[in-house]
Amino acid sequence: MLQLANKRILLGISGGIAAYKSAELVRTLTKAGATVRVIMTAGAMEFITPLTLQALSGNPVHHALLDETAEAGMGHIELARWADTILIAPASADLIARLAAGMGDDLLTTVCLASSAPLCLAPAMNQQMWAAATTKNNLSTLARLRGDALALFGPGSGAQACGDIGLGRMLEPEAIAQQLADRFVSGTLAGKQVVITAGPTREALDPVRYISNHSSGKMGYALAQAALEAGAQVTLISGPVSLPVPERITLVPVTSAADMLTASLATLGQCDVFIASAAVADYRPAAVAEQKIKKAGDEIQLTLVKNPDIIATVAHHPQRPFSVGFAAETHDVDSYARDKLERKNLDMIIANDVSRQDIGFGAENNAVTLYSRHGTTEFDVMNKTLLARQLIAAIAQQLKAQ
Ligand code: PMT
Repeated sequence: MLQLANKRILLGISGGIAAYKSAELVRTLTKAGATVRVIMTAGAMEFITPLTLQALSGNPVHHALLDETAEAGMGHIELARWADTILIAPASADLIARLAAGMGDDLLTTVCLASSAPLCLAPAMNQQMWAAATTKNNLSTLARLRGDALALFGPGSGAQACGDIGLGRMLEPEAIAQQLADRFVSGTLAGKQVVITAGPTREALDPVRYISNHSSGKMGYALAQAALEAGAQVTLISGPVSLPVPERITLVPVTSAADMLTASLATLGQCDVFIASAAVADYRPAAVAEQKIKKAGDEIQLTLVKNPDIIATVAHHPQRPFSVGFAAETHDVDSYARDKLERKNLDMIIANDVSRQDIGFGAENNAVTLYSRHGTTEFDVMNKTLLARQLIAAIAQQLKAQ
């Protein structure tokens, strides 16, 4: 279940005898490397205590919609944005009905309404309740409204707590975790080689100083992970960042724009998609002093020369892959992005407003506009992991259409 590593799973627990299995589910998910936060309904707390789930998940358990302390910390909107996926296990007939009706009468249903994360349900109920026309109708309403963003895990069949035999048992925690892990592999880029540049470049002034920027690499690393989950072979050409080296991704560490260009050109011929999310320094010092520049006088003059444009070089190359650039702008985002799309000969450009503190450089979240020859798409504020998945899905779709 490697795919669950570093995933943010929001586990909703509704009222039902199967809630006791949720404790084991939390253990299985955390053992697989996922971070789990739990929301319980009032019914769930009749069957299992928040304390058990808090101890197993290592995170506070949420249950009250109007809790001032929780809203001051990780409130319902933060929880909704935080999640890569919402998993509800057990999902009772009542909870499914409330979700289908779009109700927000407790924390769990409100977070589901407020989140753009995919929703996975592991139903658990009496076999007659599962067979009821209203339950079937509620599930088909949810499926119609949510499309691919809804998954049903089970239910299984067998002896039930009430003595009945039939469909309605919640799947075992291991099976739920496996189905959840499978959801993170889409296969839309299966067989494709994807190269991603990420992080900042550093342009040396002397042996101890450099010019750089605030890129943390989070956006590029999230894209690399999302491309991997989509089935691609991924090469990540990364400037200096302090992020963990992602598993099963070929990491090429670089320092300067010149290094990044050399590493990028070396991939051409085997590269199907090139995504330039790195914040490459546009200029570098004209000369790098061999020794530390000594302090002298009140002013110092630096001469900078232009760096090569990596994505433009790649996108004009005879072995040009599908080329995706980013545009980091502080103003006139739309016109600069369109200009870069044309000038750099790109298939797509993803623009973000880096004048904002809550998104862009260093932030956990981002909001972007994707421009291509087929039009524009807005992606509202969400965490970079989730955004990366949606961007990779959009890239895979356009690649296929070509
Ligand atoms: O790393 P994070 O902290 O998560 O932040 C993410 C981000 C803000 C860095 C990212 O979302 C982003 O916007 N990356 C592009 C940053 C940038 O350099 O933008 P630009 O508008 O200056 O450049 C346009 C495009 O040309 C980019 O794809 C860039 O990688 C590329 N470029 C720029 C200069 C150069 N010499 N070579 C290039 O390839």
